[in-house]
Amino acid sequence: MSKEEGFATKAIHAGQDPLQWTHCSVVPPIVMSTTFRQDGPGQHRGYEYTRSGNPTRDVLETCLATLENGKHGFAFSSGLGATSVLCSLLKTGDHILSGNDIYGGTNRYFQRCLITHGVEVTFVDGTDIHKITTAIKANTKMLWLETPTNPLLKVIDLKAVCEIMKTKYPEIIVVVDNTFLTCCFQKPLEFGADIVLYSLTKYMNGHADVCMGAAITRRDDIAERLRFLQNALGIVPSPFDCSLVNRSLKTLELRMQQHMKNGLAVAKYLDSHPFVEKVIHPYFPSHPQQEISLKQTTGHSGMVSFYLKGDSRKFLRSLKIFTLAESLGGFESLAELPSVMTHASVPEEMRAELGITDQLIRLSVGLETERDLLADLDQALKACQIH
Ligand SMILES: Cc1ncc(COP(=O)(O)O)c(C=O)c1O
Repeated sequence: MSKEEGFATKAIHAGQDPLQWTHCSVVPPIVMSTTFRQDGPGQHRGYEYTRSGNPTRDVLETCLATLENGKHGFAFSSGLGATSVLCSLLKTGDHILSGNDIYGGTNRYFQRCLITHGVEVTFVDGTDIHKITTAIKANTKMLWLETPTNPLLKVIDLKAVCEIMKTKYPEIIVVVDNTFLTCCFQKPLEFGADIVLYSLTKYMNGHADVCMGAAITRRDDIAERLRFLQNALGIVPSPFDCSLVNRSLKTLELRMQQHMKNGLAVAKYLDSHPFVEKVIHPYFPSHPQQEISLKQTTGHSGMVSFYLKGDSRKFLRSLKIFTLAESLGGFESLAELPSVMTHASVPEEMRAELGITDQLIRLSVGLETERDLLADLDQALKACQIH
């Protein structure tokens, strides 16, 4: 498909051509077969074994690469699976520089798994370009960024960071975790990132029923290595799950627009509430990187964080429509306490330094009726003041 086609058109048609199947099914088939008949030894028709390639996975990967304005897409069995494959591009003695406010599981992977393979890890405030460049060492091979960050929604200036990296340190691979916004609202490859990473488990699938990850790149050299690692490490998703995510992408734009609308309504409501200390939303004038957000994104998702005045555990237990649960990006609204849930694996001193306190609540605002969400928050905010 050409670059000019609209996002929704690409989401609905890229990789989905019915003519690729002899039966011309409009919805791509779920090919469950683990193996494929060969015409002669070593002579196959594109597929030999499902780990190395599967038609349903190919449909999804093509759609993902097209939506990102990338060239090559790879699906993995989880977001962390994708992370571990990307980090397998590194070798003993290499150094990875990471933003300091990232998903807790990624932090745990870096600090407890990657370093046992002899890869050095440094965390840095990604919103400060000077801090990034001064933390670069001779053995730095990868820069890992999440923007907006999880759970504090800090915004990193992708254009500025990528420009410096490309001109001064072209050998360092820049990875951007785009899980919070999706390619619907932010396209890191357009700013010069080398790889975009996803937990597809979140907004991209959006129905809270699949665990999957992905990596997308424009670089042929990186794609060649990822194709090898996808097969060699075997962290691949099932064809059934690929079909579910492929289906979900068809409504991604519609879902993201509604997540943004509901998220903004919730953020504005909380901002005016006397029992709320501070609301974090990248489109708010009070957000320190609002200007960058407006420049590098075309929208914000339903992610809203806030500091509560009151008993945070009581608040979370009092919610009736928001479900107290980890994860994010599904049609249903979720609320959680990062300090003891998603970010419990982040070392305590690091949490304190970042501001991930017991008063910080993270919301993933879903697609329910706006007034019901506000009423639910209102009753829980009142309930958590009662001692
Ligand atoms: C920003 C971000 N990246 C990566 C991951 C890991 O993805 P998964 O849970 O699919 O392994 C998560 C999970 O919460 C996440 O929030």
